[in-house]
Amino acid sequence: MDQYDNIQPIEASIKASRQSAKRHYGVHPYFTRRPPNVVRKYILHYSKENDCVLDPFGGSGVTAIEAFLENRTGIQNDINPLANFIAQGIADLEKGNLSDYQEALNLLKDRCARRISEVISADEHHLRSIQNSVDLPKDIKLPSNSDVSNFRALFTSSQLISLSILKEEIDKLENRYAKNGMLLAWSASLSKLNKTFLSAKGRLESRGGSSIFSIYRYKIAKDPVELPIWNTFHERALNIIEAKMEIDNAIELKKRTNNGWHGKFKLYHIDVEELSDKLKNSVDYIFTDPPYGGHISYLDLSTMWNSWLGFNPELSTRKKELIVGGELRLSEEMYVKRLGDGIRSCIRMLKKDRWLSIVFQHWNIDYFKAILTACSEEGAELKAAIPQVGDTIWSMHKKKNKQSVLAGELILTFLNSGKKIQTVTNKSFDIYKSMGRILSQHESEKLYGEFIFNRLVIEAWNNSAIDSLKISPDEFVKQIEKYGWFYDIEKHYWIKHQESDLPLLMHR
Ligand SMILES: C[S@@+](CC[C@H](N)C(=O)[O-])C[C@H]1O[C@@H](n2cnc3c(N)ncnc32)[C@H](O)[C@@H]1O
Repeated sequence: MDQYDNIQPIEASIKASRQSAKRHYGVHPYFTRRPPNVVRKYILHYSKENDCVLDPFGGSGVTAIEAFLENRTGIQNDINPLANFIAQGIADLEKGNLSDYQEALNLLKDRCARRISEVISADEHHLRSIQNSVDLPKDIKLPSNSDVSNFRALFTSSQLISLSILKEEIDKLENRYAKNGMLLAWSASLSKLNKTFLSAKGRLESRGGSSIFSIYRYKIAKDPVELPIWNTFHERALNIIEAKMEIDNAIELKKRTNNGWHGKFKLYHIDVEELSDKLKNSVDYIFTDPPYGGHISYLDLSTMWNSWLGFNPELSTRKKELIVGGELRLSEEMYVKRLGDGIRSCIRMLKKDRWLSIVFQHWNIDYFKAILTACSEEGAELKAAIPQVGDTIWSMHKKKNKQSVLAGELILTFLNSGKKIQTVTNKSFDIYKSMGRILSQHESEKLYGEFIFNRLVIEAWNNSAIDSLKISPDEFVKQIEKYGWFYDIEKHYWIKHQESDLPLLMHR
């Protein structure tokens, strides 16, 4: 790569391969994790070795970790302490010897497995006496849409006591790197060891998930399953050990190349808007996905982990979360303003002629408008808008609402050329005509709804007419049907009717 501004943008979508990286999958659950192979391709394409690569809404750290393994300085930032705990925890797996991790796990087995089985078989009287000998986590209020009002009510007594015993023993481990790894495994096992866990029908009891990740609230399962505590933790700890082996191997391979390995990992824990005071004009590439409106309240949903790990975000931090709604009932107006301001902050951190990729998806055009306007007015030009569809993990929300929920994302990539342009957004635009043209030009017989919606957003933006792109999900669905497509509810995509089974195609 000679000059950054000569880079030809990525123009095709990249097939997600989610499970391939053990360092991200199986280590610790988080919300909306990006597929690492896609993130890695973007990083390699838009940045060079030794560059600073930032994700200001870093979540579980996929961007910063992939950058750091690729000889860049990966910079993670998130307002949620749980997100940073996971990201730092994964990055730290590079430290220490594998044998220390294995030894730590054996030690925990010796110290805890028998005590935990004693808890499980104890009668109430015995359980109470064991409970008095351990430090239970503080009981705090859960978000008001939860089925139970308090944190401790999420657990059975044996879960609460056994998890406390395990945590106490992890805290006593001497090797700090192995201790961090075991704490990550313990925290990961929390998602299966509480009453929101539901076994998946027809599969092993331990396969399934928590309502926290499927319907985004603390819903107590109708038939809660109490998984074996030691085995659940042990499985997670083995995943951590595999992730460590994978990271060690990746670094070893790099060390054998001419350039060697010199990746770095840095972490910030502040609101995106404040981050530009620290990193002004110093970043070479940003890959990020900001929260999509009111879809997921990250801080509310992380309460179980944050409180058990002893991180309790202050009210002033909670108020800065970029979401609509949540426990603090944050307004949509504020979200739109702060989304735009957050993106402006990103561009201020980028050096000139460097690139920025933003992953986004939402029905609300005002959200897209906030992103596109902020970029344009700060001097970043839109160079590519690539739909990443068809590789989504289908959330319950998508499954229930089928065709009217957008699931895939759009990766918007901008070059910070410094040409600040005042935007025009109110010209007129015939949505249905454009939709008809996009559908008729589509070469395959199948189509994701997200694909056409994303194309319309970009066409309207390029025609200075994004304001006229107001369309409800129901109206959108009706229009695609009128053009002769039907929705396959099993496969989650649209299929074109054959001429033979279509008596009349409606055109507008
Ligand atoms: C869509 S998630 C990112 C997921 C991430 N790409 C991954 O692969 O795990 C958005 C993140 O933005 C964080 N966030 C929300 N408001 C923020 C703010 N004002 N400043 C920084 N981070 C924020 C949330 O805590 C959440 O982790």
